[in-house]
Amino acid sequence: MTKYVGVLTAGGDTPGLNAALRGLGKSASSTFDMQLTGFYDGFRGLMQDRTIALNEAALSGVLTLGGTILGTSRDKPQSMEIGGKLLDMTDAMVDTYHRHHLDVLVCVGGGGTQKNAYRLLQKGLNILTMPKTIDNDIAMTDTSIGFDTALGIATEAIDRLHSTAHSHHRIIVVELMGHNAGWLALGSGVAGGADVILIPEIPYDINKVAEAIRARSRGGKRFSIVAVSEGAMSMEDAAVYKKLLEERENAKKKEEKEKVDARILEFQLQQTSSTMRLATQLEQLTGLESRVTILGYVQRGGTPSAVDRLLATELGAATAALINDGASGVMVARCGSKTIPVPLEQVVGKRRTVPLDHTWIVTARRVGTALGD
Ligand code: F6P
Repeated sequence: MTKYVGVLTAGGDTPGLNAALRGLGKSASSTFDMQLTGFYDGFRGLMQDRTIALNEAALSGVLTLGGTILGTSRDKPQSMEIGGKLLDMTDAMVDTYHRHHLDVLVCVGGGGTQKNAYRLLQKGLNILTMPKTIDNDIAMTDTSIGFDTALGIATEAIDRLHSTAHSHHRIIVVELMGHNAGWLALGSGVAGGADVILIPEIPYDINKVAEAIRARSRGGKRFSIVAVSEGAMSMEDAAVYKKLLEERENAKKKEEKEKVDARILEFQLQQTSSTMRLATQLEQLTGLESRVTILGYVQRGGTPSAVDRLLATELGAATAALINDGASGVMVARCGSKTIPVPLEQVVGKRRTVPLDHTWIVTARRVGTALGD
């Protein structure tokens, strides 16, 4: 009997999303008897019932395309902005699911999407998910769609910054994405031979960073590349932030919570200029001219790498096979060389940060890269 499958992509886009849709859709029609319907723009499109039939024609030629042919959004089912108000639209999504007589809905996304998908699962829908994020921070999967491509782009950027830093005898501070996880900065920093790598998992001491750069100067190297994760913090800032989060956790009354939230927001706003501040501090402490490059969205753009195409195709095809077996409530994860289903409740609400004994951290230290601690 034909199975009716819905799919959406949600959260920040990444290279490889279209390869995942194609892997799912081609397996659905070639190997199994399934019809695939795509919902535009994440959970918003599901709520509004905006669809496209993901048949052979729609999926032809998308393997190498960046972004997502479905579009995406960061909307949450339980808190969606409609006419200037935040409304819980979960029931409207449940209605769309039933209107299309779906047997299952596949949600492709990062940590937030896994949470949103879990919410729909709890409403009684059959749900499967695939992990995607350039941050590589989804729990219970070795890696996620998009990370490898972003890693390659970030590494190439560091390579290119080397020659200009070297020629001008400058410090170049390059900010990489990654949210509150250091995978992208650490991986590209090690691969690109950055002299200093700063990640959220290791709060830094500015004096130690400056000393590492001065030691290079004394050794005749009058330039340095500092790869800094957007979520990296000095030891002082990390202590302030930890205290704010504890206050938020312990706040009992609504007004108390709102007050702490406002202070957290103010702190986060200050952090948006932390990379500029870091470069200024390093210039003052080392006497070397400093410049900043914020790589930004270029890390999420363009053609997926071969590794991401393979991963996305494998996860998409494995998802179709799991649907055929009647699975629900799982994320299709990468584990070693295998794709395995992991219960969604083991995924949601967790973040996979870089363990301090991870081989990339150990390796960085062994080759003399400063990590600011
Ligand atoms: O999660 C992917 C990511 O690119 C993060 O690295 C970054 O912090 C965030 O998305 C940016 O979010 P937005 O696309 O909403 O600006």
